[in-house]
Parts: sequence; C-alpha cells; structure tokens
Amino acid sequence: MPAALITNSAQQQNATAQHGVVLVVDFGAQYAQLIARKVREAGVYSEIVSCRITAEEITSYTLEDGQSIAVKGLLLSGGPKSVHVAQAPMLRPEIYELGIPILGICYGAQLLAHNLGGAVNRSGRGEYGSTDLKLHSSGQLLRNLTDTQPVWMSHFDAITQAPANCFITASTADSPVAAFENPEQAIYGVQFHPEVAHTPNGKSVIERFVHDVCGCAPNWTLDSIIEESINSIKSKVGPSKQAICGLSGGVDSAVAGALAHRALGERLTCVFVDTGLLRAGEGEQVAETFKRNMGAELVHIDAGERFLTKLQGVTNPETKRTIIGELFIRVFEEAASELTEADFLVQGTLYPDVIESGTQHAAKIKSHHNVGGLPDDLKFELIEPLDRLFKDEVRQVGEALGLPWEIVHRQPFPGPGLAVRVIGEVTAEKVALLQQADAIVREEIQRAHPDGAIWQYFAVLPDVRTVGVMGDERSYAHLIVIRAVTSEDAMTADWARLDSELLAKMSNRIINEVPHINRVAYDITSKPPGTIEWE
Ligand code: XMP
Repeated sequence: MPAALITNSAQQQNATAQHGVVLVVDFGAQYAQLIARKVREAGVYSEIVSCRITAEEITSYTLEDGQSIAVKGLLLSGGPKSVHVAQAPMLRPEIYELGIPILGICYGAQLLAHNLGGAVNRSGRGEYGSTDLKLHSSGQLLRNLTDTQPVWMSHFDAITQAPANCFITASTADSPVAAFENPEQAIYGVQFHPEVAHTPNGKSVIERFVHDVCGCAPNWTLDSIIEESINSIKSKVGPSKQAICGLSGGVDSAVAGALAHRALGERLTCVFVDTGLLRAGEGEQVAETFKRNMGAELVHIDAGERFLTKLQGVTNPETKRTIIGELFIRVFEEAASELTEADFLVQGTLYPDVIESGTQHAAKIKSHHNVGGLPDDLKFELIEPLDRLFKDEVRQVGEALGLPWEIVHRQPFPGPGLAVRVIGEVTAEKVALLQQADAIVREEIQRAHPDGAIWQYFAVLPDVRTVGVMGDERSYAHLIVIRAVTSEDAMTADWARLDSELLAKMSNRIINEVPHINRVAYDITSKPPGTIEWE
C-alpha cells in the first residue's frame, strides 16, 4: 500500500479503533450484556461475540464500520451447560494460542479448567447466591481485595483442579478453586460472577483485568462516544448530502436525532408524526425541544385526526395496532417523499437490538426499525448512531446533549400509544380523559418514586361505566384503572406495592380533577398471567 494511503487511513481511524476492544465471548449467559456493560463502565470498549468465533476473526476483528480494531482481551461468559455434556459450547482451541489475555467467568472458568489441564466435577450440589470468598494469595486479579468478601455464585459443576500452571488464588466452602490465574500466559478464571451487583468488589476484578492485564486505558467516555458518533455521521453523510430522522417521542430517536443534528446542522430534517395518541404534552414537548431549543429543522405532522378517523368503530386490539402501524408508515412516507434531497435516514437502533438479531455487525442489520416499524424499502441509506450503545449509555448521551429529563428518562411507551390504553373504540374525548388521568398518575408516582424504581406507571380507560354517587346525585360514569409495575426487562413484571396514601391521593385527584370519572381501581395483576399493557 502506498505510504500516503497508509497515513491517510491511520488519520481517519476513530478513537475506539485506536484503543482496542475487549470481547465478551457469549456461551449463552443471561449476564453477557451485563459483563460488556461493566467493561464499558471501566472505560473500555466492549462487544459481545458468539462462542463460535474463530481465531482468525479475532485477529482481524473489525468494527461495524469496517475499521480494524485490536482485540485486547477475551472474557468468557457463563452459560447454562456443563462442560461434560455432548453439546457443550467450546472455545476453538487455536484461540488459546493467540496470546490474548483471557478471563473465564463461571462456565468460562470451568471451560479453561476443562481445556487446559485442570478438572471440573459434579459435586452433587450446586452453589447459588451470596457466598464468602477466601483469598489464598491475591495474585493480579484479586489485588486490593480483603481476605474475605461476599461474591455471587450460580453454578452446579465445580472446578476441582486449576488449569496446568495456574495457581489458586481463592476458594469458598463449596468451591476449592473459586479463582485461579497464570499471569505469564495471561489465563485467569473466577467461578463467581464479578459483573453482578451482589459481588460488591466485582468492579475491581473487572478493572484489574481490563486495565492491568489487557493494558487498556479508560478511554471509552461520554465525551469520546459523542465525538465519535458525530464524526462518524459526518464522514458517512459527507459535506453536502442531507438526512432525515423520524422522531417518535421516545429517548432513542431523540438522542439519535440530537447527535445527527450536531453533526449535520440544517442538513438534517426531523420528521415527527404526531399520532394524537401520545401522553399529555408529549407532542408539544418533542416539537419544542427540537425546534426551539435545538434549532433543528422539524416537520411536525399533526396527524391526530387521520388516526382517529381510521380508528372509528374499531374495537379489536390487534386491528387497532395494525391500523396505527400502517398509517404511521404511510404518513411518514408522505413526508419523506417530499424531502427528495435526503439520502440518509437516521434511526435509533440500539446495541442490544443488534446483538439480538444474531449478527455481529450493525451494518448488516436491516430489520430493526425503532420508528414505528419503518419498512426496508424506504429509499434511504441508514445511519444508526446508537448501534454500539446500551440504553443507559444512550440516556447519558441524551443528558450530555441537553435533552429534557422527561425525554431522556421517559418510560417505555407502546408504539400504538394511548390507543391500547383506551379499551374498545378510541375517540377524541376518551383520549383526552385518559391523558388527564394519566398525567396525574405520572406526576404523583414520579414524585413519590423519583429513583425510577417503578418500571412503568400509567392510567387505563376501560370500556366500562359504573354507578356512583357524587354530591347528592347518582352518577354513571367512566372508570380509570391505575397500572404500576416493577420489572427488569418487561418480559416479566410484578404489580408495584404502592403506598395506600399514594393510591388514595391519585384516586381523589382523578375523581376531582378529571370530568366524567367516578371510580378508580388499581390493577394487582402480575405478568404473567397479565401483560403490562391492557391491549
Ligand atoms: P406487554 O403489554 O406485552 O408489554 O407486557 C411489554 C412492554 O412492551 C411495551 N409495548 C410496546 N412497545 N411497541 C412498543 O414499542 C408496541 O407496540 C408495544 N406494546 C407494548 C409495553 O409498554 C411494555 O413496556
């Protein structure tokens, strides 16, 4: 390659590519994403790869934009299998020859013992939950830790012999080999889970590995994330082309739009399809944020009437969802077709979406569309500035870019909006009632639980009227149901045990402040068997 070209490509290398990556090799762990998050919290960029990865793929690893990046370390995750079963996932043996530092966690540590001359046995009973770890010698990984401390265990098989040439650094009552290492060959293993909060000193273990063993400096910072994203959008779009971004009101599209706006200025047009089915004040807030505060070009399409007209007389939940999804796309397409100059579409795809699609590189993903399920055949090239970020990183970026708290910390909100919280036919009057009641529920629960401990809380308007007495008059009016749940990931959820005074306050306020409501109920159904939403 000519010298000039070498210099040129080196200059263009982004900061992450210069600093290297620590890969989390996924053996089917529920905690693989958490491990990557913890590595990033230590300031080191991390990606998750399949355990089928080859040595060649590691030595020629590239970021999704095609840039080469050095793999500085491998973290072998936990996994549900025993190393002794026939289908146990294995690491390709050539990878051990690369000389890249390896830390095995739980199953990953057992695999190291199994492959490298140690032994793993069935003890007949597992070790689950918090356990005291006793240090024999601190070694490199457990440096700075006290002689005894709690760690989180979750395993059935146990390592009974450390890999050849490794010395044992710690044990527990049930795990004679709870941690081992061989600094010369850069092989490390821990039977416990350093990535979970129940291992209070786990952060130190991960930092020792990525900083001291892998030699990575803590360069993955908020500033570097923002700077790199902006540079990457700039270089992809070039000096004169234009882009559009569909805003949904949610945090992902807002942060993607804000980054693109920083990169492109007035060459970015944001399209906000206001379905009229958002919560009270949300439509105005999005418009206000992007137009007034950020000075972005914003096409605000007030499509509320169109949505309500299409929903007239429709009561079936699935039909409602389909109608809204299809109309959303049509309205967006109409707006986009008028922006004939735009070549690029900015989307808020997140890293977990990329991982879940089962491929390693975001550029290959076409099926994830956050903005109301936009179709593939829109004639734009995609820009996905958040495709390397986890949700909490996106929130931090949003805060740093000055987006309002309400947008950055917005609760999950269904694409079809309040149409799935007005049960039965959706009318303008019912949406307005629900918006008022919902605003009270959000205000009161937010005030009582500002720490975000409640996953989602909102009001539902069932298609029910009940008899009541208000003043001396008999009333026959609507019911509002309050729904509040705790959850980790929305796959399962528990109804929130809200304080009775808080429930009383919300009930009083809803009845007094919202017309045509004479009864308030609290939903005490968990998921399963219920779902979080009512439709
Ligand atoms: P369910 O009701 O299935 O909801 O327990 C699980 C989570 O998903 C959200 N949800 C949606 N999100 N588009 C979305 O983007 C949708 O159509 C949709 N439906 C439900 C729901 O709010 C909860 O967080």
